[in-house]
Amino acid sequence: MFSRLLRRTLISTRNFSTSKHHNYKVAIAGAAGGIGQPLSLLLKQSPLITELSLYDIVHTPGVAADLSHIETTAKIAGFMGPENLKQALKGADLIVVAAGLPRKPGMDRDDLFKSNACVVREIAEVTAESAPKALLAIITNPINSVVAIAAEVLKKAGKYDPKRLFGVSTLDVVRANTFVAELKGLCPLEVNVPVIGGHAGATIIPLISQATPAVTFPPDQLQALIRRIQDAGTEVVKAKAGAGSATLSTAYAAARMAISLVRGLNGEQNIVECAYVESSVTEAKYFSTPLLLGKNGIEKNLGLGRLSDFEQDMVKKAIPVLQKNIKTGEDFVINN
Ligand SMILES: NC(=O)c1ccc[n+]([C@@H]2O[C@H](COP(=O)([O-])OP(=O)(O)OC[C@H]3O[C@@H](n4cnc5c(N)ncnc54)[C@H](O)[C@@H]3O)[C@@H](O)[C@H]2O)c1
Repeated sequence: MFSRLLRRTLISTRNFSTSKHHNYKVAIAGAAGGIGQPLSLLLKQSPLITELSLYDIVHTPGVAADLSHIETTAKIAGFMGPENLKQALKGADLIVVAAGLPRKPGMDRDDLFKSNACVVREIAEVTAESAPKALLAIITNPINSVVAIAAEVLKKAGKYDPKRLFGVSTLDVVRANTFVAELKGLCPLEVNVPVIGGHAGATIIPLISQATPAVTFPPDQLQALIRRIQDAGTEVVKAKAGAGSATLSTAYAAARMAISLVRGLNGEQNIVECAYVESSVTEAKYFSTPLLLGKNGIEKNLGLGRLSDFEQDMVKKAIPVLQKNIKTGEDFVINN
């Protein structure tokens, strides 16, 4: 069976065989990593992408040589080391950042801040210089904080556009769809569960009340489902027992988001994805909600929709956590 991703890709090829321009350059930072490699492979399959620029501090030539033999249109270029970052990002329409350390058992996402803050700052600085109009999609954790770092760096350079910066939280939606489908005996391709808030622990807020098709669960099963979605990353970290965190499912989710962003750039209508972006929907300065995507990145923030009492309570509890995470990111840029 085709994955939703491949199906969507094929559908978009058919729809765009004439007038639209299919001429997008996508750069991936961290392209040799556990997420970066399968993400590069998935994006190599999109007919909308004509250039894939792979950047990492190690192993990029090998990954690039390997991918370049695949018989799809995207041209592959590999760049290694900080002295080549500028060239790697130059003129990109979309930059996807999967560079930085993943979790080990016992770590939460905040434990990654020290090492990954500098990586995101460096890539945002070069983005401002080399591809100031690019959409910037950040996978690197802790997303709740590092998106604020990228925003502050871009602001300093006078290049910040809140419609173009995204924290990739698509994996939470993918997991919610899969787990709901499993519990209800549905085909996962037909399920859509919006997930709002942030991308760590209790800030991950699946809106089961807004799922399509509509589903209901007894309270204890609902609690267990929500907890499983929130802890799904830790489930993988434990199962990998020291060998990293989710990579294949993350690559799938990030490719889904990246292709949706490119389809939006390409003028396709009705592309909606949840992502962690600057927002005035709640008192948290960054917050994930469903977004209508288009030629300029975010066309419209679709907001919270109608929440159950239980979901409202989760939002209320998540806001101070997000505000603290966001401040950590902003303070890092001020103090360093
Ligand atoms: N958003 C999500 O849903 C989600 C899910 C899982 C993991 N993650 C995060 O994604 C990140 C990557 O995870 P992974 O499993 O691929 O890790 P990994 O260690 O396998 O790969 C990371 C890659 O980044 C590269 N790198 C490190 N510093 C760099 C720099 N300054 N410039 C360019 N490249 C650099 C490394 O060389 C490596 O190839 C982690 O921060 C992880 O926590 C996000």
